[in-house]
This record gives sequence, structure tokens and C-alpha cells, in this order.
Amino acid sequence: MANMIQTGARGFLKGAAFDAADAKAQGIREDFPILTAGPTKQGAPLVYLDSAATSQKPRVVIDAIVDYYENTNANVHRSIHRLGEEATAALESGRAAVADYIGAASSREIIFTRGTTESFNLLASSLCRRLEAGDEIILSEMEHHANIVPWHMAAQNYGVVLKFLPLNEAGDLELSDLDRLLSPRTKLVSLTHISNLLGTINPIGQIAPMVHARGALLAVDAAQSLPHMPIDVKALGADFLAFSGHKAFAPMGIGCLYGRQELLESLPPWQGGGEMISAVGLHGFSVNELPWKFEAGTPHVEGVVGLEAALDYMQRLDPAWIDTWTASLAAYTIERLEAIPGVTVHGAPRLRAGLFPFTLDGVHAHDLAAFLDRGGIAVRAGKHCAHPLSDKLGLLSSCRVSFHAYSTRADADALIKRLTDAARRGAIV
Ligand SMILES: Cc1ncc(COP(=O)(O)O)c(C=O)c1O
Repeated sequence: MANMIQTGARGFLKGAAFDAADAKAQGIREDFPILTAGPTKQGAPLVYLDSAATSQKPRVVIDAIVDYYENTNANVHRSIHRLGEEATAALESGRAAVADYIGAASSREIIFTRGTTESFNLLASSLCRRLEAGDEIILSEMEHHANIVPWHMAAQNYGVVLKFLPLNEAGDLELSDLDRLLSPRTKLVSLTHISNLLGTINPIGQIAPMVHARGALLAVDAAQSLPHMPIDVKALGADFLAFSGHKAFAPMGIGCLYGRQELLESLPPWQGGGEMISAVGLHGFSVNELPWKFEAGTPHVEGVVGLEAALDYMQRLDPAWIDTWTASLAAYTIERLEAIPGVTVHGAPRLRAGLFPFTLDGVHAHDLAAFLDRGGIAVRAGKHCAHPLSDKLGLLSSCRVSFHAYSTRADADALIKRLTDAARRGAIV
């Protein structure tokens, strides 16, 4: 700990430890073709600070997908030929890898989806068919739309009642508020692990026992946490957990809904079609066993192949290191951005991941993002698919910086330099 400073509950790398981590990140960049491809069209090197939207892809993932298409491609679970069996083996190997990565008891607990959004649509549609009008679901004000809109739709369709945990000035949830909102009618609490706008890391490990003690279930949105920290569904106490592969080095269009086996067994299927049935007649059908019961139609095998390679790569980088490095780089950057006149970094949660929103007085976030882009710096601008949170913060729009394992001090310094320039120019950026 000699090279760490403590801020709140979190230790940040400093001094020689920061330099060593930065050197490791520079080495990691070499694994990413897009980061080593030379100057962008704008003529400047790419400074990619939008990893919370999607991560860049390492060579190992790209190679795994190419290899799959060159040597294995076939449809799965239905072809009695060598390629079909190999493609099926690749799909099921990916499922086992995900189960292993998140500490699931069995690969039956891993349902492949298109991503976090589809996972929550599946969960909301299926679970709420088992609920009664008036049953309650608790969400928070900091949720991404993926963990709000499917529940609104369920409220319209099934009469379930939504309650929202507020967040405090700093951008944290208060456990006392959760205690107050939980009631005998609460059936599910569904919360994000990390806010995609403020970077708040929620204390899921403390929340789970409170939820379970009141007889409710806990769903966790791990879209921003799985790519940046070790995830163990048992340690978290998650009954359900959703994530998207594309934020964790894998391709777009593949993600996962984890659910405890007995819960998934008890839920009705969602979409209908091939694969999710064991038999079909003209007057009905019978449902397949887990996990295929929730996977109608031809699956995204190439995506699963990429996801397995991505999780293997992330494991080798060490997710705990990614968390420490990206949070330390965020702390380094925030300290310097806050020293620029007119720049505001929003929120100050107790524990913050490697992402945060900022604004520059008098400049619309879209104009600021366009100005940064002309310097080769990619940040996201807007409401970040978190309208309720953005509105609560009084932000019409904001820019968001988000780091990943390949982000370096040079990236942060490029942002600081160009923002200093933007602040000097003011509204004429
Ligand atoms: C916290 C959070 N939840 C859900 C999502 C939705 O992910 P996807 O669009 O991959 O389904 C995102 C994406 O940014 C997110 O940050």
C-alpha cells in the first residue's frame, strides 16, 4: 500500500505504482489493432475515452472469430455432421466459460442474449407473468434505460408497481432508503452495479442480504462492472445478473442473463421458436430444458466464440487490476480537470469506477465533444441512456469519459490539454 493513497473507501495507485500500471496499459494497447493503427482521419492519434459505450477489441478476439468462420461455421444443435458438432461444442464451451467466469453453479444458469437490454426484457417479461397486480419492484434513479423501460412495460402489462431508490447529492444510494422502500409486496430489487453516468459503484454485497431478508429477489445490471472488476454471482448475492459482451472486449450482439437454476426453471419461456421447444404439434408445444428454454432461434455462435476469447483475455489481464487502474486514472484526470476554470466534474460518489461526466460552462456538451473529436479524442455526449439521472443532476447534456485497461496517462493528458484549450476559447469551440 506504500504507493496508494486512500480517498474515501478506495485506494488509488500513485507514484511508482501508477507509473508501473501506466506502462502495463501501454503494453496492453499493443494487443488492440485500432489503437495501434496510427493517426485518425483527424490527423491526431486516437484517444479513445468511450469504453463504457463499447470497448475496443483485442487481436485474440478478432482472430478467434475469423478462425471460427474459416474452420468451424455451421448451425448448432441440429446438424449431425462434424462442423455442426464442432460449432455446438464452441457454443457450449463459451457457455461453460461464462459460468466459470462469473462463478455460476452450472452452465444451465447462463442464457445467451443480445446484451444487457435484451436480458432485462427477457427477465421483466417472464418474471412479471408470475406476479400479481400490486406486487412491487424496486429500481433506482441511476438506472440505465435498459433497467427501467422493460419494467415500465411490465407495469403497463401486468400491473406491477415500480418504486425508485433515490440517490443523494454525492451520487450514492442510501441503504436506509432501501430499507424504507422494501415491503411485503416487494418481489424484486433490480439495480445497476456501476452507474454508467456517474461511475458510482453500488454496494451490492450489502444490499443482497437486505433484499433476501425481506423475501425478495435481486437482479444486478453488470453492464459496466463485468468489464472492469471480478464478478462472482454468489459473492454478490445476485439472483439474476445481466451483462453485454461488447463492453468487455467481445463483439456486439452477445450478452448474458444469469439466473439461479431453480428460478429460471420456475419462469415461463419468453420468445418462441426453434431450440426452445422439445416438441411441437399443430395444437401446442412443450418447452425445452434450461438453458435452451430461453434461447429461441439460431444463436449468435460467432459472438459466443468471441466472448469466450474476451473473457479469457480479461482474466489474463486481471479484472481486479483493471478496476484499480481505471479508477486511479479517473482520479488522476478528475483532479486535473477540476483545476480548469469552467470545467465541472459531476458527482462525488464514495466509490467511483473509471468513468465520470463533466461539462464546460457556456458550451453545449455536443459542441465540446465535437471539439475534442477534432483533436482525435472520443468521448460520449448526451444523456447517456440515463434520462432520469441526467435530469436529476440538472444536466441537459454532459460529456462522459470512460477508461479501460488500455487507457493511459497519455490519453488523460491529451484530454486535459485539449479541455484547457477549450476552456480558454469558451463558447467559440
Ligand atoms: C449500466 C448499463 N446498463 C445497460 C446497458 C445496455 O447495454 P446494451 O446496450 O449493450 O444492451 C448499458 C449500456 O451502456 C449500461 O451502461
